[in-house]
Amino acid sequence: MAIHIKLEDPALLESLAQKTAAARALLRQIASDFAPAVFANSLGAEDMVLTDLIVRDKLDIGIFSLDTGRLPLETYELIAKVKDHYGLALKLYYPRHDLVETYTREHGINAFYESVELRKGCCFARKVEPLQRALAGNKAWVTGLRAQQSATREGLPARSFDDGNGLEKFNPLADWSEKEVWAYIKLNEVPYNALHDAFYPSIGCAPCTRPITPGEDIRSGRWWWEAPESKECGLHVKAKN
Ligand code: ADX
Ligand code: SF4
Repeated sequence: MAIHIKLEDPALLESLAQKTAAARALLRQIASDFAPAVFANSLGAEDMVLTDLIVRDKLDIGIFSLDTGRLPLETYELIAKVKDHYGLALKLYYPRHDLVETYTREHGINAFYESVELRKGCCFARKVEPLQRALAGNKAWVTGLRAQQSATREGLPARSFDDGNGLEKFNPLADWSEKEVWAYIKLNEVPYNALHDAFYPSIGCAPCTRPITPGEDIRSGRWWWEAPESKECGLHVKAKN
């Protein structure tokens, strides 16, 4: 298990029960009042909690993942495990081949290490453009973002209007702690990415994610060569509340 959890801690169990009830109620409301709605599933720990909640309650919320083509092997293994465990075939979106071909031809295969601009260019072709297609025609989307994940996510609301994509955006785990996420996973025997057990609390593409040492910030293994303020890939533009 990625972080050590004492399931006999009554305060943790109490807060988890309350937050689980609130997340379930919000997801139910999204499914009934914002159809069609979709959930963007990165297969990280938070997103496995949301997958479990959506599948358990048989909610009519489509679940998709953006396969950037550069994901770690363990993430592909988890996609297959989700199919076995839940009978759920995630809808996979791929980058446009012309954008990737132009990018790699002009800048090189690993150009994202060279500058923030080139890194954002790669994220645009491999994540942001496919996300726009995945969101088209929907009234709302759901993410596994949490406020405590980073400085860029402080004050994250559970609901906001996503101006950039033109639909409602819900973050049902916005106020969850990392401990609550892992307590949910443990209690409900939710499958998770094997990399979490190898000091990867936050997982993205393989070349842009590395393990952290205990005590480091949980997103410090993502785009580790950049300053913390630039560490967003463009999927999440901070909403005005
Ligand atoms: S990222 O934007 O820097 O990559 P992070 O990995 O913390 O963010 O994920 C935050 C949320 O963005 C996830 O909970 C998920 O909703 C969405 N997301 C990120 N990557 C993907 C992906 N590859 N496929 C689908 N959704 C994703
Ligand atoms: Fe490209 Fe790295 Fe962004 Fe993945 S995380 S799309 S490899 S820059």
